[in-house]
Amino acid sequence: MGGRVENVGVLAMELYVPSQYVDQTELEKYNGVSPGKYTVGLGQSKMGFCSDREDIQSLCLTVLHRLIEKNNINVHDIGRLEVGTETIIDKSKSVKTFLMTLFAKEGATDIEGIDTTNACYGGTAALFNAINWVESSSWDGRKAIVVAGDIAVYGKGPARPTGGAGAVALLIGPNAPLVFDRGVRASYMAHAYDFYKPDLASEFPLVDGKLSIQCYLSALDSCYNLFCKKMRKTDPDFRGLLSLDGMLFHSPYCKLVQKSLARVCFNDFLNSPPEVREQQFPGLSKFKDYKLADTYFDRDVENAFMTYSQKLFDEKTKPSLYISRNVGNMYTPSLYGGLASYLVSKSPKELVGKKFALFSYGSGLASTMYSINICDDVSKLNGLIDSLKLSVSLLDKRESVDPAVFSDIMDLRTANYHTAPYTPTGSIDVLFPGTYYLTNIDDQRRRTYDRKV
Ligand code: ACO
Repeated sequence: MGGRVENVGVLAMELYVPSQYVDQTELEKYNGVSPGKYTVGLGQSKMGFCSDREDIQSLCLTVLHRLIEKNNINVHDIGRLEVGTETIIDKSKSVKTFLMTLFAKEGATDIEGIDTTNACYGGTAALFNAINWVESSSWDGRKAIVVAGDIAVYGKGPARPTGGAGAVALLIGPNAPLVFDRGVRASYMAHAYDFYKPDLASEFPLVDGKLSIQCYLSALDSCYNLFCKKMRKTDPDFRGLLSLDGMLFHSPYCKLVQKSLARVCFNDFLNSPPEVREQQFPGLSKFKDYKLADTYFDRDVENAFMTYSQKLFDEKTKPSLYISRNVGNMYTPSLYGGLASYLVSKSPKELVGKKFALFSYGSGLASTMYSINICDDVSKLNGLIDSLKLSVSLLDKRESVDPAVFSDIMDLRTANYHTAPYTPTGSIDVLFPGTYYLTNIDDQRRRTYDRKV
């Protein structure tokens, strides 16, 4: 095989979110913070979480098995399986090797790829590996699967309401309905201690909240400007946000995403020639000499561009926030939950021919902006959208859990994080049918799973 194939992208997509959540209004009361702090201040409604019955391997098994089942995938047609996660339960053995149980039992073991880790960016890096493989001379004609999953939990304190959990699986190959643009990926990678997990005995990260926001926004500035520059090489008329139908972001919490869209507009404003600036950004000229680096926490700039961008946000970004608002930060799958939300918010007819940019950010830090084009053929899209709608509809079937019970479950996870042997006690009844769950960790720390029928 080999040679350059066309229209490489997402052929099918699956999403899994845990069956339990805590309501953010109730969490505000329970944590004794002012009403609106999580729901308005962070823009979050519900936060998904897992009991000790689920771990990173069970999440990834669940979403992968569903993708295979729903799309009748012949496992022998898969030549690459990539996992992106920052939920580390083994310093050597990859989650990918565990997922091989679904393939090896059919005799399918010629499958490249392992795990990729850098905070919330690992899923994107895994995705790029898969795309690169299909477009490379190593490609043997088979498809790739990318699984991104995480359990995002924080210790008690201001970061806890920004947790979440979930997994996505993407089937990647040529002639796809969602096609990745070539040659325009724009990355920004640097060292920062904004969010990191140096304590291997703990599930929780160390977080410098304010620095993490600054890092996120500065990475966005860099990626967006470079992305526009690369786009203009092939399309000199490219006008930034105005040339895009949608703009999707990694979502730690929805409010930061809304601020990010405002930030994109601020970038467009600074990059506009004076005559365009006056016309496109009326009343904002007083900000023309402002510098990006001085304005991460500048309230005047933020408020002015939040107001300016409200309509653009409603149109191009808000539809991507449904899962983020109702599940929380899923870490590596967060951006792809955004993609799923955006896709199910419209009919296939409305989606055809649309172009949107995606911003992936992982603390530490690694970030990229890239773009996807939706094909012109409605019939190619129908299956993907219908299947995603089914997955997303499960959000309404979840069980609400009292914040005190949620807190006890978090305490139990923390207390037993490194216990072996260990038999989990979390309810199996609450899990959705088809969910994999942990049955045991033996004295050699080997994990076994079962699947709920
Ligand atoms: N009603 C409405 N809004 C309120 C209320 C209220 N009652 N109380 C507070 N707010 C607003 C604040 O004004 C603030 O708004 P602003 O962002 O516009 O300034 C917002 O709610 C957050 O409140 P703060 O007191 O400023 O911040 P807090 O101490 O709650 O911490 C943070 C928020 C930093 C996001 C914390 O949750 C955190 O550390 N999360 C994890 C790190 C993170 O997600 N970083 C983002 C990028 S890195 C990544 O993806 C992991």
